[in-house]
Amino acid sequence: MKILVIGGTNFIGPHVVRYLCAMGHKVTVFHRGKTIAELPSNVDHILDESLQHTFGDWTKPSTLKGDRTHLDKFKNKFEEISPEVVLDMIPYTEQDALMLMNTFKGIAQRVVAISSIDVYRAYGVILGGEFEVVPVPLTENSPLRQKLYPFREMPNRPINTPVDYEKILVERVVMSDADLPGTIIRLPMVYGPNDPLHRLYPYLQRMDDNRPAIVLEESIAQWRGSYGYVENVAYAIALAICDERAKDRIYHVAETEVFSEAERITRVGKIAGWQGKVVSVARDKLPVEWKLTLNTEQDWFVDSTRIRQELGYKEVVSLEEALQQTIDWERIHRPKEPEEFTVSWLLDYSIEDAILTKLV
Ligand SMILES: NC(=O)c1ccc[n+]([C@@H]2O[C@H](COP(=O)([O-])OP(=O)(O)OC[C@H]3O[C@@H](n4cnc5c(N)ncnc54)[C@H](OP(=O)(O)O)[C@@H]3O)[C@@H](O)[C@H]2O)c1
Repeated sequence: MKILVIGGTNFIGPHVVRYLCAMGHKVTVFHRGKTIAELPSNVDHILDESLQHTFGDWTKPSTLKGDRTHLDKFKNKFEEISPEVVLDMIPYTEQDALMLMNTFKGIAQRVVAISSIDVYRAYGVILGGEFEVVPVPLTENSPLRQKLYPFREMPNRPINTPVDYEKILVERVVMSDADLPGTIIRLPMVYGPNDPLHRLYPYLQRMDDNRPAIVLEESIAQWRGSYGYVENVAYAIALAICDERAKDRIYHVAETEVFSEAERITRVGKIAGWQGKVVSVARDKLPVEWKLTLNTEQDWFVDSTRIRQELGYKEVVSLEEALQQTIDWERIHRPKEPEEFTVSWLLDYSIEDAILTKLV
């Protein structure tokens, strides 16, 4: 099968491309050429397009970068390739999705779009914009957020997310075109080598600094969210691309074992060879200036039965191996900027020491 991937060269994408190639498919990736990945040599890249602008009898040539903001200008190239399935790794806005569907209508037979479990109302409750705690585990039919644009008011938006980021609108557009069927994959928190958010790093740094304890506010210690290892998530995406039964379907992908944050960090510590322990502390024992902005009464984990039953998905890498690979990578790729990582609820060492002293 011929598959076109929009993106595909950063974190999750290269693993998807490798699985697709290993399954015998012909893959072309469309991107700007800013991010380089080691992909199989038979993968084609669309990085730019030569254009001719005619002004009277004068023709000016120019080159257009493979940027999705002008995806429609590459239509001739896409027609030449005539992919059966288009995988969009990076649809962030309604406009992205509209241009995607308009460009590939009449060319492709199906579009697979990567979404997130941030579409659920549960995420709105965690952020504080919505109030009624939603039962977990979430299924693909759980209620969606009522408040759109989750990152609009955030002072520090996650890396690369535009202000009008909204996967709910992306999904709506991709799933509502009778001429071009869609598949949606909602991802959990993804970790692994090359994680741009360095999800494990802040904990690992403490472990490698031989901290005796990692202090977590009680409700965070107990909070449970869904995670997925990058290679496993990529394998699930590849299955959904190749299996016709995924047409018009929405799937979660996530690990089946769900741990509290305290349990998860303890597991990481065990693999990392850490001798310390996670200490859960009541909110009133923490400094007053330390305010938790998230509502951790709401857990955020999903049931991934559907993709397992319908597409036969199961993890290709075990949890232990996944954590080991991530730890190995994080140890040699420390984030350059503190804002590159997401864990905002860790106290600094001196505050942590003061709390621990009071506890004994
Ligand atoms: N990481 C998580 O925990 C998580 C959780 C839930 C959902 N997701 C979803 O996963 C997806 C991101 O995965 P990933 O970063 O691993 O994807 P990826 O496909 O590995 O990397 C992003 C790709 O997009 C290309 N790109 C960026 N801006 C572009 C533009 N304007 N035009 C054309 N190409 C562009 C980059 O190449 P160039 O730089 O060369 O253009 C790169 O190939 C997103 O949809 C995100 O919402 C992630």
